[in-house]
Amino acid sequence: MKILGIETSCDETGASIIEASAKLPFVKIRANVLASSLALHSKTGGIIPEIAAREQLKYIIPTIDSAFKEACIKSSEIDAIAVTIGPGLIGSLLVGVETAKTFAYALNKPIIPVNHLFGHIYANWIDDGIKKDISFPVIALIVSGGHTDIVLMKSHEDILWIGGTRDDAAGEAFDKIGRLIGLSYPAGPEIEKIAKNGDPKSFTFPRPMIKSLDFDFSFSGLKSAVLREVQKVPTISSTFIANISASAQEAIIDILTIKTLKAAINHGAKSILIAGGVAANKTLKKRFEFEIKKEKLETTLYVPSPNLCTDNAAMIATAGFFQYKASSWKDITANPQLYFD
Ligand code: KG4
Ligand code: ZN
Repeated sequence: MKILGIETSCDETGASIIEASAKLPFVKIRANVLASSLALHSKTGGIIPEIAAREQLKYIIPTIDSAFKEACIKSSEIDAIAVTIGPGLIGSLLVGVETAKTFAYALNKPIIPVNHLFGHIYANWIDDGIKKDISFPVIALIVSGGHTDIVLMKSHEDILWIGGTRDDAAGEAFDKIGRLIGLSYPAGPEIEKIAKNGDPKSFTFPRPMIKSLDFDFSFSGLKSAVLREVQKVPTISSTFIANISASAQEAIIDILTIKTLKAAINHGAKSILIAGGVAANKTLKKRFEFEIKKEKLETTLYVPSPNLCTDNAAMIATAGFFQYKASSWKDITANPQLYFD
């Protein structure tokens, strides 16, 4: 079956065509197009929701058109439309949801409502040329700009949220720390780059909740600790920026790996999936690989290729395939507060 995926939950406008079959373990991407208003947001240090939605209104139809052209198929050839209904920014979500409803009505095709967080997890079920054999039970860590959650998947039908952040998300911590040391938004990729020149032991930042018995996280204390260091120095040198980046990244990675591996051990996970923008961080991936080997855990780590970690529509179409809930266009509404139910 061919699915058109639409993703507009934050600042990106994505359209994708995927091809999937119940006989194949992974889906194939025929097109995955992304238009971004990121350049506008990096100037303001964060996303301004109204600007994001206004840009998305301009981009959505050309983006969908490009996806059909790239996949070399006509709109009438798709079998369903999968769209992100939440969580996200209401104005942005409405652009995608209303467009999906219009296509569903005009083409007389079913529409599949998709939770953006499931989209991130399902990026791991996209065929990206790397050999994979994802076995259940799975522990999935979703680490994005808006979320940090641990989910236990016993099967595609049995998915349970077991913990999450009580304040800032991991990506948000990267972005806020970046802002304190003068980096532009989103700061995660830049911090990872700069951290290579810094000493991760130069600052001892807190690792909140690292020893708590639950699978919850807290990252806001880390940002405050960085602020205190920034306030102590008269000027911010490049060595200081590199050392703060390396030490803060190390603290975030420590917390993410220790908590996720504890969940994997407790639930006998055969696979660990990392998903979301922060999963694009190669230092995080290496650390997971190192710890799994060191602890001799019988679990396999999977991380999508970097362009599938950050927001995109192929992951939404893929989640739509595995969590197929065909609905009429009349029954779909955007839900900015949607979470794991
Ligand atoms: O999943 P995503 O594209 O959007 C949301 O759903 O939030 O994630 C964006 C987040 C941003 O906070 C960004 O700083 C972070 O992912 N990010 C990274 C890296 N690449 C993106 N954080 C750390 N290291 C990276 N390489
Ligand atoms: Zn996301």
